[in-house]
Amino acid sequence: MDIQKITILGGTARDGSREPLASFELRMGDVASIVGPTGSGKTALINDIGMFANANTPTLRRVLINDEVPPASFREDPASNPIALITQHTSFLSDLPVQRFLGLHAKIRRSERPETIVEETLQFANQLTGEPIDVDSAMTELSGGQSRALLIADAVVIGNSPIILLDEIENAGIDRSRALALLGNYQKIFLFVTHDLHIALHSTYRLVMRGGAMQDLIVTAETESRMATRLDHLEKTMIHFRDRVRAGLPLSEDDLNTRLAQMPGVQP
Ligand SMILES: Nc1ncnc2c1ncn2[C@@H]1O[C@H](COP(=O)(O)OP(=O)(O)OP(=O)(O)O)[C@@H](O)[C@H]1O
Ligand SMILES: [Mg+2]
Repeated sequence: MDIQKITILGGTARDGSREPLASFELRMGDVASIVGPTGSGKTALINDIGMFANANTPTLRRVLINDEVPPASFREDPASNPIALITQHTSFLSDLPVQRFLGLHAKIRRSERPETIVEETLQFANQLTGEPIDVDSAMTELSGGQSRALLIADAVVIGNSPIILLDEIENAGIDRSRALALLGNYQKIFLFVTHDLHIALHSTYRLVMRGGAMQDLIVTAETESRMATRLDHLEKTMIHFRDRVRAGLPLSEDDLNTRLAQMPGVQP
């Protein structure tokens, strides 16, 4: 099926009242974020989407694909499911070596280029992690960040899923800027649950959650996109100094002044 859009029809908040936002739509190519405090229902929302909720979850939400109730095959046959959900807590049931796991997945997906696609997946994953993944190690031996990087790469490259839902990738030590840049090369619907300013402001829009309910959909304003560049600069500055403190090095005020003067959009 050629996926053009996915629609989420609102249900009820945690207290049983109707959700303020009655519905929202994601179109092919959209990058969106879900924001909101801890416990506000972000994970519940992407789980609803991931299981094609049809008023059969506690939220009573419904999900439509191309304006229609999705076929049962999406849920029953993993190979025809267009949604990949990268969860907040990853654990593998398989202790196969990485290379073999990816090879098997490529085969199940009937990839026409099983060797190169595994290589491409590993390269993708390694760009997101600090330490490269050892292809001979068992899936269960990967670090949290490596596991998530591999799952993202697997969903994007081998799974070729048109809709990718990611729950708080920033907490797994994944390089967010790289992830956003890499994912930007693929024409898909990406939905990030995030507490991260960078990811939220680099999204086309952000869905605001509170009390288990969808409250509002905020389109990223042009001014916000401009601010994002400057806020990124501030964050890099913070990280630079944090890394120096971690490395046991002294900090210099001149260094801070120079970095602040280099802030994009600021006249010297
Ligand atoms: N609309 C709703 N109706 C009933 N229960 C809900 C609803 N939304 C969320 N919940 C429940 O509230 C709890 C907290 O929600 P959830 O885990 O989705 O929060 P979260 O925003 O992902 O939090 P965190 O930032 O800590 O990951 C869960 O048990 C979830 O099932
Ligand atoms: Mg959550």
